[in-house]
Amino acid sequence: MKDTLERIRTCAKELADSCSELKTLDDIRVRFLGKKGELTSVLRGMGALSADERPIIGALANEVRADIENAISTKKKMLSDAAAQIKLKAEKIDVTMPGKAKKLGKKHPLTQVLDEIKDIFIGMGFQIASGPEVEYDSYNFEKLNMPKDHPARDTQDTFYITENILLRTQTSPVQVRVMENSTLPIKIIAPGRVYRSDEVDATHSPLFHQIEGLVIDRNIRMSDLKGTLDLFAKRLYGKDTVTRFRPHHFSFTEPSAEMDICCFSCGGKGCRLCKGEGWIEILGAGMVHPKVLRNCNIDPDVYSGFAFGMGLERIVMRRYNINDLRLLFENDQRFLNQF
Ligand code: PHE
Repeated sequence: MKDTLERIRTCAKELADSCSELKTLDDIRVRFLGKKGELTSVLRGMGALSADERPIIGALANEVRADIENAISTKKKMLSDAAAQIKLKAEKIDVTMPGKAKKLGKKHPLTQVLDEIKDIFIGMGFQIASGPEVEYDSYNFEKLNMPKDHPARDTQDTFYITENILLRTQTSPVQVRVMENSTLPIKIIAPGRVYRSDEVDATHSPLFHQIEGLVIDRNIRMSDLKGTLDLFAKRLYGKDTVTRFRPHHFSFTEPSAEMDICCFSCGGKGCRLCKGEGWIEILGAGMVHPKVLRNCNIDPDVYSGFAFGMGLERIVMRRYNINDLRLLFENDQRFLNQF
């Protein structure tokens, strides 16, 4: 039995010493020290020994077990240290390598110009309001003095969802919502998306953006409208900008007007940008119709106000000389990176 134990000790230690993989090391442990291992089965035969021999063999067996365990754990430490070294080497970071530049996104030209316009009006004491894009017919049309049979409805090709619910064709319904829900006076702009069922081409898109404006107080007059919008034009296009107001018609304003600015490209001589006109139309506006005020429970004998609306895309396209509206919606990075 002594010989067997010595043989086991030598054999196990040799195997452990020459082993080069953690997995094999574990196999060695199982082979000698496991429940069915060689050492264990030798110890099982101890019962047959005499009372004198038993403590001697027992002590030897414990010594062999300790030796084998020691050999295995020493080797285990060596192997895992080596593995850690390899891993560390592989993960080494060269701090002198140049960094990878993160590409920063930037604001879409529509957002850039909208932010500029918002700033101009905020600077004049306006607040920003908003309303739903899915709107009731009553807010988009009826309360704006456009009953079901009104001819002006034909000019706004409307996406209807049900008979009474639609995608707003203009931001003007926000006027009504603000008048219904605010205390007076009111001084807001309401930028947002609007929808019309137009075929897509260089100048039409079923989705575009408008910026609505509304001012209601005592003694608001046409001169306030003109002064406000003239100052807006000068802030947006430069202090020498010349504006003119032409009579127009909107069902919800009376009187109504369109504001032009003297062409910033040719100075009024006539060029391609202004189509030879010398003037560029910027927005529609007017004094809020007494009927609309009454629809919103505001007494037109006490209060008056003006409203205006402009298309964001057209302003952006003229500013950057963009000749195709579709470019603003396709999100081609090669295009967007120019702004
Ligand atoms: N909502 C009008 C349009 O879409 C513009 C407008 C707004 C005109 C406010 C007058 C007052 O054409």
